[in-house]
Amino acid sequence: METVKQKIEVLRAEIESHNRNYYDLFQPRISDYEFDQKLKELEKLEKEYPQFADANSPTQRVGSDVSEKFTQIEHQYPMLSLTNTYSEGEIMEFYNRTTKALLGEEFEIVCELKYDGTSISLIYENGLLTQAITRGDGTRGDDVTANVRTIRSIPLKLSGNAKEEHYPAKFEIRGEILMPWNAFNQLNEERLANDESLFANPRNAAAGTLKTLDPQVVASRKLDSYLYYLLGEKLPAGTHFANLQAARSWGFKISDAIKVCHNLEEVIAFINHWDEARKNLPVATDGIVLKVNSLRQQRSLGMTAKSPRWAIAYKFQAESAETRLLSVEFSVGRTGIITPVANLEPVLLSGTIVKRASLYNEDAIEEFDLHIGDLCSVEKGGEIIPKITRVNTEARIPGSEKVRFATNCPACGTKLERPEGEAAHFCPNHAGCAPQIKGGIELFISRKAMNINAGSESIAQFYDAGLIKNSADLYDLTADDLLKLDRWQKKSVDKLLESIELSKQVPYERVLYALGIPGVGETGAKKLARAFHTMDDLINASVGAIPCGRPDENNIRPYEQLMNVDEVGEVIAQSIHDYFSDEKNREIIRRLQQHGLKMTLDESLLAQQTNILQGQSIVISGVFTQHSRDEYKAMIEQNGGKNSTSISKNTTFVLAGENMGPEKLKKAEKLGIKLMNEEEFLKLCINI
Ligand code: IVH
Repeated sequence: METVKQKIEVLRAEIESHNRNYYDLFQPRISDYEFDQKLKELEKLEKEYPQFADANSPTQRVGSDVSEKFTQIEHQYPMLSLTNTYSEGEIMEFYNRTTKALLGEEFEIVCELKYDGTSISLIYENGLLTQAITRGDGTRGDDVTANVRTIRSIPLKLSGNAKEEHYPAKFEIRGEILMPWNAFNQLNEERLANDESLFANPRNAAAGTLKTLDPQVVASRKLDSYLYYLLGEKLPAGTHFANLQAARSWGFKISDAIKVCHNLEEVIAFINHWDEARKNLPVATDGIVLKVNSLRQQRSLGMTAKSPRWAIAYKFQAESAETRLLSVEFSVGRTGIITPVANLEPVLLSGTIVKRASLYNEDAIEEFDLHIGDLCSVEKGGEIIPKITRVNTEARIPGSEKVRFATNCPACGTKLERPEGEAAHFCPNHAGCAPQIKGGIELFISRKAMNINAGSESIAQFYDAGLIKNSADLYDLTADDLLKLDRWQKKSVDKLLESIELSKQVPYERVLYALGIPGVGETGAKKLARAFHTMDDLINASVGAIPCGRPDENNIRPYEQLMNVDEVGEVIAQSIHDYFSDEKNREIIRRLQQHGLKMTLDESLLAQQTNILQGQSIVISGVFTQHSRDEYKAMIEQNGGKNSTSISKNTTFVLAGENMGPEKLKKAEKLGIKLMNEEEFLKLCINI
């Protein structure tokens, strides 16, 4: 049985990892609610078992968003967070606690919306914005002034006059930087089109944007702001509400959704109103903040180490909807992992129609005791795919069928395996299971891999026609084979074959990524290629044998060398070892090699750190065939140039691919900026 100490340690590690996902990677994997529950559970355990207290526990600090790229600045007043509550009962407790602490004195509560963005502290001196600092770890934050200056709703110069005491000579104002829903949706659409990872929500998009190093990128992302907290020695009024109204007159964006409440009923009415009305707002909100209005009373209530006693946040439950489970489907991923997916009766949730939801794994299905036809609650958490959060077992249709996890692969019938200690099932038939094979070939041809111009339907068509069974077969395709297929004509066939031919120029590290070794992504492949300059070297290190030979049985840890590579841990090393130990995979690699694919690192290209593009500002636009956008970006940097997102008179040239955006084209023409195509650019960078 798990001991309390172990439980505490597991929780701490989990919370730290979620903190990292949230603050450093801007990609949360759980909802705020789930996060808070974990933190609360840990707090409770630490309180009950003080012998396990630890100053480094995540309960002892607010998550940090400090990054190394910006200068760090100490906050004059620490940036605390608020205690979160989820029920009217807890609001009532706050109210009673406050009454007691103020010894029965009357008090007002200001209710405001809790904006779901990223917090910022702005310093103004003599009416001018001098500094903008992120929250960081609460004590020190990043100086993001240059980025914040691009946000239009943040005044650089205040209206009014310091002498006439309109605003204090020096003060700090705090608030939230937000990405409005429409800007967020547009950004994600663009990222999808460019094959870039999506932001899970506007909060992460705003935080990520504020932390980019290029203020031009920030300027193009349409960020907005709401300010909600004034600090300083000589504030204009003695109440929070009056100070915010004054700040509005100086030019700050202060929300109109703010109310001075005189009793608990008014507070609850405000909460209930906005729980519904917020759905029509242009920005994301996730709750209501309650603040004691009088600054004198705030001072007398004081703070705890983490949060003020004079304020509290009431968090709205994530929007959820109820709908019926129609069926459960088991889908097979490229690596054989089986994902259960719920097909639902379509239902409207936060502005989109939801028809499918993730069910995670067997344990989750068992925990819900899920039956077909069950009434389920679906929610959108931090992730993009909605999830089932609750099953209404009371509304169950009598005699309905219990959902059982598949025992055999839905595609090839092979018995599924669930490795001990793991939650996921997988189909072990990697070489013979259609979705795994097709998925593998799809990854192989994808833009970031071999960049072969074909879609998943074409791959399915070639596979079903028996033309391809693995990626090497693509290079044996002939015009005759293809012309026999439906929908294929000379022009499309020529185009495909040309693109297959072109893929032979793709650099070794991308070929390595294209193999689809489980756990080896784009970055991993680059790192491996830098450590092992040829495919043969890598195979040798992985199986401990001569190229494509049998593994050396005397070598006890044949993949030790692999683990010296940054980011390759034991699991990935094992996976690389397994992959190359399989003779079928080595046979495919041999054939790819014979077809002329690159299996050695292009040393000259790698060593090329020049300053040929020094001082040049380059905008990349359109779709490319020989390298990915990211590679061109890297090339520009390697050669001393600067990547920029928007065209201005300072742009040196535009690296233009196919289908360059019409707006950019117009602007470049207007400003007389040169367009350079891929070939010209490569010549410039490589032939020096
Ligand atoms: S007041 C000391 N007011 O919520 C109190 N915070 O967990 C300072 N937030 O870090 C915060 N809307 O980023 C306050 N109307 C509002 C807010 C708000 C959003 C954020 C803020 C803060 C977090 C608290």
